[in-house]
Amino acid sequence: MAMPSALRTASLLLLGRTAVRVQAVLGDPAARLFGLDQGEDPYPVFESVRAKGVLVPSRMGLHLTASHELCSRLLRDPAFGVVPAGALSPVDTTAHVGGRRLMNPVEDSFLVLNPPDHTRLRRLVAPWFTPRGLRRQADMIERVVEEHLDQVAARPTFDLVRDFAARVPVRVITDLLGVPGADQAAFARWGSVLVNALDGVRDMAEMRALHTGLREFEEFLDGLIAHRRRTPGDDVVSALAAEPELTREDLIATTELLLVAGFETTVNLIGNAVLAVLGHPEVRERLLDSPDHAEAVVEETLRFDPPVQYTVRAPSEAVEVAGTRLPRGTPVMLMLAAANRDPAVFADPHRFAPGRPDGREHLAFSSGIHYCLGAGLARMEAAAALRGLFRRFPDLRAAGRVHRRPSRVIRGAARLPVSTGLRRPIRQNAR
Ligand code: HEM
Repeated sequence: MAMPSALRTASLLLLGRTAVRVQAVLGDPAARLFGLDQGEDPYPVFESVRAKGVLVPSRMGLHLTASHELCSRLLRDPAFGVVPAGALSPVDTTAHVGGRRLMNPVEDSFLVLNPPDHTRLRRLVAPWFTPRGLRRQADMIERVVEEHLDQVAARPTFDLVRDFAARVPVRVITDLLGVPGADQAAFARWGSVLVNALDGVRDMAEMRALHTGLREFEEFLDGLIAHRRRTPGDDVVSALAAEPELTREDLIATTELLLVAGFETTVNLIGNAVLAVLGHPEVRERLLDSPDHAEAVVEETLRFDPPVQYTVRAPSEAVEVAGTRLPRGTPVMLMLAAANRDPAVFADPHRFAPGRPDGREHLAFSSGIHYCLGAGLARMEAAAALRGLFRRFPDLRAAGRVHRRPSRVIRGAARLPVSTGLRRPIRQNAR
């Protein structure tokens, strides 16, 4: 019956929110993080965790670390396995709907599997992300960037996220998966809804949106898989559909993972990089003088304000870490964004300084066996977007309030109004 389970879910969500609020007031570090208001700066909370020690306990049933050394160590330690970030949520987002268990975009995928299943599934999609695979994407990415800049150039102001940053990754991911052009808008919508599953849902409205999005997306993928079995193309879904050993569930989960992992993360990398450039006139000047500086700006954005703020690991057996005994299964929140500002590794860590010598030590793409498969692609997309944007609009300015995303795991702007700074809008296709 739908009602009792909806009521139970609503009660659990409410209880969860209340517990977080109470613990946050009492100064619990994890509760302070989960309880951050939309748009609130998380970096002071990260620093308060760092000040408390290397491994900090929380009454919310987990431990936290802001230490770069410990994050790197646990990410590479085979004794620590993956735990979905949503597992910290009070409700199970994979609950049955209409008598059928829905897949969850990340919790059924290889992102949260340990070897040997992780190795088997990751290996199937890895060829698309090799340097050779990426070279095939490079021209397409430049073309998509220019096309979308053409579209906004006729307007004095536009929303950098919705009208530009979101457009490039969705084209890249749909191209990779072999999704026909007409379905790209729906893909962008599903990507935005499904990414919330990373956090665990906060209220019933999000829960319903997630279930509807998952159902629609699964139906769409079933159709796409059937189509690609009949008419294979040179794309990930066609290749996976041709694998005799792969179950429907693995195929759907892998495709969902690529959408969720590759879409909003890249949108936010582009958004966070633009925000950083707008706030640092000296960086803009350097970028205008030499557009290749975009790569260093992207790298420093990954360190300074990473789109994925944290991940979670748990030991498969009881272990001692930093003088604390952790029972089997205790979740440890590895605060990647905090590790990226660890003064033990980065000189003057709160300064945005593209090209810094220690810049590539960041953990924005994680480390170990789950190191981001799309890191090269994301770097390429974001650098192309930044180069194209500032070449076309050297005087780009913020033109209104930045609206932040509600998520704690994913950090970035949901809306970022900008003005092109051009006195007369450029006619379409004029460069
Ligand atoms: C700025 C953009 C991106 C960021 C910050 C990012 C970050 C991450 C992080 C932190 C992880 C590991 C999580 C963990 O260790 O628990 C990860 C995994 C992953 N990412 Fe990305 N990612 C980005 C873009 C992409 C893109 C464009 C794709 C593909 C189209 C992608 C595909 C994946 C996949 C498949 C995994 C799972 C790897 C595994 O479990 O073996 N990512 N990403």
